[in-house]
Amino acid sequence: MKALIIGGGAIAEQHCQALTKLGVEVYAICDLNIKAAQTLAEQYRAKAFGDVSLALAEQVDFVSVCTPSGTHPALAIQAMEAGKHVVVEKPLALCVEDCKSVIETEKKTGKICAPISQLRFSETYKSVKRIIEAGELGTLVTGSLSMHYYRAPEYYAGSWKGTKALDGGELFNQGIHGLDVMCGLLGKPTQVSGSVVTRLHQIETEDTAVASMIYPGGMMGTLESSTAVFYSTPRRMEICGTKGSITMIEDTISVAEGVSLELSPQKKFITNDPKLESSEEHERIYKNILAAFLGKEKLQYTTKDAANTVHLICAIYESSETKQVITLKEEL
Ligand SMILES: NC(=O)c1ccc[n+]([C@@H]2O[C@H](COP(=O)([O-])OP(=O)(O)OC[C@H]3O[C@@H](n4cnc5c(N)ncnc54)[C@H](O)[C@@H]3O)[C@@H](O)[C@H]2O)c1
Repeated sequence: MKALIIGGGAIAEQHCQALTKLGVEVYAICDLNIKAAQTLAEQYRAKAFGDVSLALAEQVDFVSVCTPSGTHPALAIQAMEAGKHVVVEKPLALCVEDCKSVIETEKKTGKICAPISQLRFSETYKSVKRIIEAGELGTLVTGSLSMHYYRAPEYYAGSWKGTKALDGGELFNQGIHGLDVMCGLLGKPTQVSGSVVTRLHQIETEDTAVASMIYPGGMMGTLESSTAVFYSTPRRMEICGTKGSITMIEDTISVAEGVSLELSPQKKFITNDPKLESSEEHERIYKNILAAFLGKEKLQYTTKDAANTVHLICAIYESSETKQVITLKEEL
């Protein structure tokens, strides 16, 4: 298969590495900054484009959108309308309406839009989901997620990061990784109440968020997420039920009480640097995406899944702004 990558920045490198390992040809890189496109293209002997429409006219099997978050839905729609399947980095979009437009375009064009949420493809995620679905935790009581990270001021300075239009905020950039896993494991809450603030950084959006959530059946959840905390601590998710509990630290199982789960080997996490250590996680999700593009497997993580997480994040923002509890009526 041949891929066109739109956006030639940090995450595009991981896509190129993952795709190459999976035997896909990185055929072209397109970036509004042609130098960025050329630099990455040189490494993969790919073509470089500075214009999206010209790049989309090329014969490729799919397009991977690796641009700033606010540009994702329009580029995904443009790619599908140009007759290509598309992979979109997280978040799918920064509002529910844009998610719906992407889903409508999938229906209209018959093309697949595959969003990225690589943590949903880990062995840890799969084992914990299996335990929950088997009822081993009993009735679920609480689910909590802590994501305390540090991003240096240079991370935001002069960048699209921290802008409302292109980044969305800490929840859309960092918090989404854990929140999306939480949505996958626990479903979507029916009520959410949250607050967001900017504690450290000189940015338009929040750098810190807290929220409490109520799920169908009465389980309760909490979230703390920040990029203003020095040092970063590893992501921690705890799911407690009437018969057992599980604690996950990053992508490992560190406590499993009352359930038939093996603990993961101890690991030291270095998390102040946002750069991904390897393309392994992207390889895992791409395996399913490529098989789905070839019609060999069902896409495991869909635009509807991604849209539900976007819906939850938007509800936290709405609650913070209106100081109201928000009811999430719609299942997307
Ligand atoms: N899944 C993950 O773990 C993960 C990790 C990092 C980033 N991301 C996501 O990847 C996306 C990109 O992040 P990044 O860190 O690579 O950013 P980046 O700033 O390093 O790269 C973005 C590139 O896109 C180019 N660009 C901007 N608008 C464009 C457009 N309309 N058309 C073509 N090119 C355009 C820029 O010139 C830049 O080179 C973000 O949405 C981010 O949330 C995901």
